[in-house]
Amino acid sequence: MSRLALASDRRGTDRLRICNPQTWHCRDGRAIVLRPARAADIALARAFFDQLSPLSRYRRFCSARRLRSEELAYLTRTEPRRTMALIATVTVGGVEMQIGAAHYVKDANHGCAELALVIADRWQRLGLGEKLLTMLAGYANAAGLARGTGAVLASNAPMLHLVRKLGAHVRSDPADATLCQFSMSLQCPRAAA
Ligand SMILES: CC(C)(COP(=O)(O)OP(=O)(O)OC[C@H]1O[C@@H](n2cnc3c(N)ncnc32)[C@H](O)[C@@H]1OP(=O)(O)O)[C@@H](O)C(=O)NCCC(=O)NCCS
Repeated sequence: MSRLALASDRRGTDRLRICNPQTWHCRDGRAIVLRPARAADIALARAFFDQLSPLSRYRRFCSARRLRSEELAYLTRTEPRRTMALIATVTVGGVEMQIGAAHYVKDANHGCAELALVIADRWQRLGLGEKLLTMLAGYANAAGLARGTGAVLASNAPMLHLVRKLGAHVRSDPADATLCQFSMSLQCPRAAA
């Protein structure tokens, strides 16, 4: 599994170094590149989020509307101690296409990482969601965060199944019956990396 390495610069402050992209093969054998997003990926991200089905977009963002440019910029920003986007891409006819995105943001109040992800509809159920979420957990943990949390629609059976598989505790949101909250250890998520 690709990891963030901690290194000390000349001033003695820690900095996080992001490792290279890695190639991974999904359940049907196709090769997928997994890597941190860069600011230059905004056009890839726009095409990816625009082609999601209304259901996938709604499950990810609790809204089916298209994302604005500033939201896309936010979702491609990587500052490992605070926020990170991991993306999955394939190359078709020489053109790179994004097929998945996982994202964490540090919750400053609780010292944990808020996690979220979405996989392109045609690439779901091939193991990619589990792979990306496990990788993201590893990055967040390398950045010093011990727990991952998130809100999931109570009707979102695939995501609830996935986080439970990775060892998360899931409870109903006491303030909103349509939502569940999950919390999981980032140290050793129960999944193949
Ligand atoms: C939730 C989501 C990320 C899962 O991604 P995925 O690539 O399809 O998941 P995987 O193939 O890695 O499967 C992980 C597990 O979930 C299960 N699963 C995935 N989709 C499922 C479905 N539609 N119904 C039932 N189980 C499902 C898989 O069977 C697997 O469990 P198993 O190994 O015990 O069989 C994907 O469905 C998605 O992008 N949904 C829309 C966005 C969303 O809901 N995001 C979560 C909110 S932050």
